[in-house]
Amino acid sequence: MTIDQFLKAKALKVEEQLDKLLPLQQVPYKQLFEAARYSLLGGGKRLRPILTLATCEAFGGDEKAALVPACALEMVHTYSMIHDDLPCMDNDDFRRGKPSLHKAFPESQAVLAGDYLLTYAFDILSSAPHLTPQQIINLISTLAKKAGGEGMSAGQVMDIEASNQKVSLEALNHIHAYKTGALIATAVEFGAIVAGATVEQRHTLTLFANEVGLAFQIVDDILDVTAGEQKRGQTAASDVTNGKTTYVTLLGIEKSQEASEKLLQSALAKLDQLSLKTDHLAVIARLLVHRHK
Ligand code: IPE
Ligand code: IPE
Ligand code: MG
Ligand code: MG
Ligand code: MG
Repeated sequence: MTIDQFLKAKALKVEEQLDKLLPLQQVPYKQLFEAARYSLLGGGKRLRPILTLATCEAFGGDEKAALVPACALEMVHTYSMIHDDLPCMDNDDFRRGKPSLHKAFPESQAVLAGDYLLTYAFDILSSAPHLTPQQIINLISTLAKKAGGEGMSAGQVMDIEASNQKVSLEALNHIHAYKTGALIATAVEFGAIVAGATVEQRHTLTLFANEVGLAFQIVDDILDVTAGEQKRGQTAASDVTNGKTTYVTLLGIEKSQEASEKLLQSALAKLDQLSLKTDHLAVIARLLVHRHK
């Protein structure tokens, strides 16, 4: 199987499971499910759930057990995108190749669909099959921290606070690690928890994921200015419009590319310390950093 086929197969598996987990419901408030499905099933590279499945596989874990956790993570990521695009946040009208949720539905419904995806993610985790109660608790606790006050939400607060402010490279690394790195690290951590990796292995994996996560957001900063709206499927130059300090504003495109490449190489060296069953994690890490959209 080529890596392209691998990625397509995993994305399809995730999408089929998401579709099953979140059916349309014929209830008076069916708009909640329509809105959530609009964002959740409407495109997206599925990189985080693929990372979870690939990590689980690399440690010889059972993919059947990793699928629901992978989907829970994609729901939380999707909620974060819905809220990130709101007029009170980045105010972006285009996401995943179509109008942002608050453009297709009333803004209030976009906020609520985001709330629903976040809370529902924990619901499906609590009853995820093929896992021990301890594994489920570890998954819930990790996601709660990394999507919240020790990760994404904290990072989003720092990102908003830093708009139109002078920000040092050190401070920007901190923001990026929290707003984006935390969920990328969670993706890898999820795979490790499901596969029952040891504490030492998980420690090395976290070092790997933190570097990949930072590199991922550096590339996001670059693509904000270099990738066209249609190609990338989201509003172009949003960071410029919002007065964000990014890797590009601090270092320029070329130096930013160098920084992401350096992080990638350092991350790949971490993987060499683990005796993994497949090389998919390394291939995916390269793809995350060398992506064009
Ligand atoms: C975009 O994430 C937001 C960031 C955290 C940089 P992705 O680039 O993974 O977006 P989708 O899921 O493919 O839409
Ligand atoms: C997103 O950062 C980080 C989140 C956790 C939502 P950006 O605001 O740069 O992401 P895009 O560029 O809109 O996808
Ligand atoms: Mg943002
Ligand atoms: Mg944004
Ligand atoms: Mg961005």
